[in-house]
Amino acid sequence: GLTKVKDQLNRPLRDLRISVIDRCNFRCQYCMPADIFGPDFAFLPRNQLLSYEEIERLAKIFVGLGVEKIRLTGGEPLLRKDLPYLVEMLSKIEGLKDIGLTTNGVLLPKHAKALKDAGLKRVNISLDSLKDELFGEINGRNVGVGPILKGIKAAQEAGLGVKINMVVKKGLNDSEIIPMAQFCKDNELQLRYIEFMDVGSSNGWKMDDVVTKKKIFEQLSEHFSLEPVDPDYYGEVAKRYRYKDTNVDVGFITSVSESFCSSCTRSRLSADGKIYTCLFNGNGHDLRDFMRTGVNDQEIVERVCEIWNGRDDRYSDIRTAETVANRKKIEMSYIGG
Ligand code: GTP
Ligand code: 5AD
Ligand code: SF4
Ligand code: SF4
Repeated sequence: GLTKVKDQLNRPLRDLRISVIDRCNFRCQYCMPADIFGPDFAFLPRNQLLSYEEIERLAKIFVGLGVEKIRLTGGEPLLRKDLPYLVEMLSKIEGLKDIGLTTNGVLLPKHAKALKDAGLKRVNISLDSLKDELFGEINGRNVGVGPILKGIKAAQEAGLGVKINMVVKKGLNDSEIIPMAQFCKDNELQLRYIEFMDVGSSNGWKMDDVVTKKKIFEQLSEHFSLEPVDPDYYGEVAKRYRYKDTNVDVGFITSVSESFCSSCTRSRLSADGKIYTCLFNGNGHDLRDFMRTGVNDQEIVERVCEIWNGRDDRYSDIRTAETVANRKKIEMSYIGG
């Protein structure tokens, strides 16, 4: 496809993050607190979800408009039945350069090989602590570290690229900053420290809970020698460093302390077929019902161009106490981070 679209801030459309399901087998405190996402929580019913054929159709259209990277997210994407089948459909799209998956890792021993065979390149696995008790408390389901380590191993053995995501929250798991660094360095895994964000309206975020990149970096520097690494591609989210004399990188996702909106090329598709132009903009644009009225591809292309052309989001650049409190936001579990 040659049609390229730009938004109001001249940012191209390069990435599509597709949430395939809004459910999760974890209840991480910072994402789906168990007291809010309880047994009676109304998750999307099956018939509200996009089918794989519908996802494929939209993905092709987005690739035609400039998307080069697709990331599958959830909730927990591996809870969606036959996910490798979707990966296989997507991997055949011409012009698409990269397909990744963001997961909690529990189901990877079961699916890693099939995902790799279907064309998946990389997985980002969340792990916030190496201590069973603390990790169980954070994930809200008392799952220990063992199952995640098995998932990491399965992904590596299948030949998938692996990154580890650690959300750092002050007073909760900041004591794990150094142990996680050491573990990931020893196992040649790229760790990314993620600043705790004010996503959704259920995680009780306060600025005071954030451990900034600067603080984490200071701690790391007391134990390791690090040198900065250039971004892999325009708009890469993580700022990366390399342990001196190794091939191992460590990254920081500085959504709070050093926002990266000016190069944000990410669109997000929810499991029920709405497009979101920012993680912090709760105003989704329906494509599912529109598609189900029987429109042709050109009509969808025009709709997506209109949405992207109108985009002026830069939430993290303009975050203030007032926006934290008053913005209508999306839950992270619904839009997949
Ligand atoms: P790759 O760079 O392709 O490996 O993936 P990624 O880092 O974009 O994806 P991942 O799902 O692992 O995201 C890691 C963290 O970065 C999550 O906490 C996301 O919510 C956060 N993140 C990703 N994109 C954005 C963004 O556009 N804005 C903000 N504020 N946070 C983001
Ligand atoms: N702040 C920062 N990161 C978060 N994630 C989920 N909720 C938050 C939050 N409030 C992360 C998860 C996962 C990724 C998809 O999003 O840890 O790695
Ligand atoms: Fe589930 Fe990931 Fe949210 Fe944790 S962060 S509750 S694993 S979707
Ligand atoms: Fe992009 Fe919104 Fe995140 Fe800024 S806050 S980087 S615009 S998703």
